[in-house]
Amino acid sequence: MDHPALQSIVVLDFGSQYTQLIARRIREQNVFSVVLPCTASLTEIQGYNPAGLILSGGPCSVYDADAPPTDPQILSLGLPVLGICYGLQFMTHTLGGTVRAASKREYGHAEVSVIEPSVLFEGMPRSLSVWMSHGDEAEVLPEGFRLIAKSPSAVAGIENASKRMWAVQFHPEVHHTRFGTDLLKNFVFRICQAQPNWTPQRFIDATVASVRQTVGEHGRAICAISGGVDSSVAATLVARAIGDRLTCVFVNNGVLRKNEYEKVQENLRNKLHLNVDAVDATDRFLSKLAGVTEPERKRKIIGNEFIEVFDAEARRVERQSGAVDWLVQGTLYPDVIESVSVRGPSQTIKSHHNVGGLPDKMKLKLIEPLKDLFKDEVRRIGRDLAMPDEMLQRQPFPGPGLAVRILGEVTPERIRLLQDADDIVVAEIKRAGLYNEIWQSFAVLLPVMSVGVMGDQRTYAYTCAIRAVNSEDGMTADWVPLPYEVLKTISSRIVNEIKGINRVVYDITSKPPGTIEWE
Ligand code: XMP
Repeated sequence: MDHPALQSIVVLDFGSQYTQLIARRIREQNVFSVVLPCTASLTEIQGYNPAGLILSGGPCSVYDADAPPTDPQILSLGLPVLGICYGLQFMTHTLGGTVRAASKREYGHAEVSVIEPSVLFEGMPRSLSVWMSHGDEAEVLPEGFRLIAKSPSAVAGIENASKRMWAVQFHPEVHHTRFGTDLLKNFVFRICQAQPNWTPQRFIDATVASVRQTVGEHGRAICAISGGVDSSVAATLVARAIGDRLTCVFVNNGVLRKNEYEKVQENLRNKLHLNVDAVDATDRFLSKLAGVTEPERKRKIIGNEFIEVFDAEARRVERQSGAVDWLVQGTLYPDVIESVSVRGPSQTIKSHHNVGGLPDKMKLKLIEPLKDLFKDEVRRIGRDLAMPDEMLQRQPFPGPGLAVRILGEVTPERIRLLQDADDIVVAEIKRAGLYNEIWQSFAVLLPVMSVGVMGDQRTYAYTCAIRAVNSEDGMTADWVPLPYEVLKTISSRIVNEIKGINRVVYDITSKPPGTIEWE
């Protein structure tokens, strides 16, 4: 999606783990912000109609042989610039100052004193509690710059107001930095004078118009829909543009949650008024999964089978209604941000199932209406599209479904046990008012049988694990200390109501070293 008329704040990514947060914080102010690699060309940067430039942090030192090769001309575009952490060092070094290795690495909380009045710190206290993470520091400031803030051991803020350049050594984008958002707002509004016009309605109108134009009067599109917020919002936007010429294929792979196949169809048809083609392929998936215990094999089988089913459905739609040229995908911004690879490609821990494999095989052109958005923005758009809360707030659910939560072989009986256990976990977490506060909460069925007693009877049955985690993006996660009362109710309901599970355990592993799903 292009937004040529919209002003933006361009964030140049030097590889910091916090770069995306900078763009998010700015978009929270209704100002469009885009992340580009620090190697972006000047033309590319200017293509986003920037009102200002932010240089992110990063793991390198400006003196490293493999420091990112950034065009120094980015500092001569005449735009206001804010350097953050490595951004401060890059600015200092490029403009003729010097940077040195700090005698002591500053990591974590630090107290910073604002020593000179500056528009960057306007309205903020003169003593700030901030988040630092750096090994290098500015030593000699470039000509024309003055020191505006310092930490006990280093330069913390610099300014060259006549050149409209500012930089801070700390991270205003992380929430540990108090008043960090105020600092970013000062830069965006007071310094860059950006307009807060990046609103859900504006996005919806622009997207609908652009999809209508792209697909044309007669084009047809298809999309795989799961009932999750991303694919549902993407489909609703496209349906607003082309109506029933969009077919949403919803596949029952046999490892959905309890009653999910029916509930999702109802929501998509009756609440979002989408043209839904529901396919119950349970038998097909389960027969392929029979006897398989290896986690990656399960994932591959489900991914491949999904492509087969979807492909067959696309052909059926074509026979029925005419050629389909477009595939709609709910890809989000974090998936497409081209981060500079300063740490090398990350290792594949698990092969994620999504519909990314489809276009090659099917020769469809892609429509990705959400590829500029973060997850919380997708929810905001969904709200404006009148999507029911139940869909908007749905916790993430993996493509391979319950199959990666049933350790060992996936059988109809184990699926039923886990569906029932999962249903109890979700119901109790919702009843306790915790569902919307938790990233994911679910049950896992373990292939561990143990002895128990029920009434006067000996039992020998499965073990179920409860997992509840909080996370910003699924990349790291902390286990949630659910209240004992909630755990007690969940445990007692599971062992009493589900014949086949006689023991419940609680998973207290964070990610890393654990992963969120068990397989
Ligand atoms: P892990 O288990 O890797 O999961 O810590 C991180 C997040 O990704 C979700 N997940 C998936 N999502 N297809 C998806 O769309 C998948 O194959 C898949 N596997 C894991 C998981 O639920 C968590 O939110």
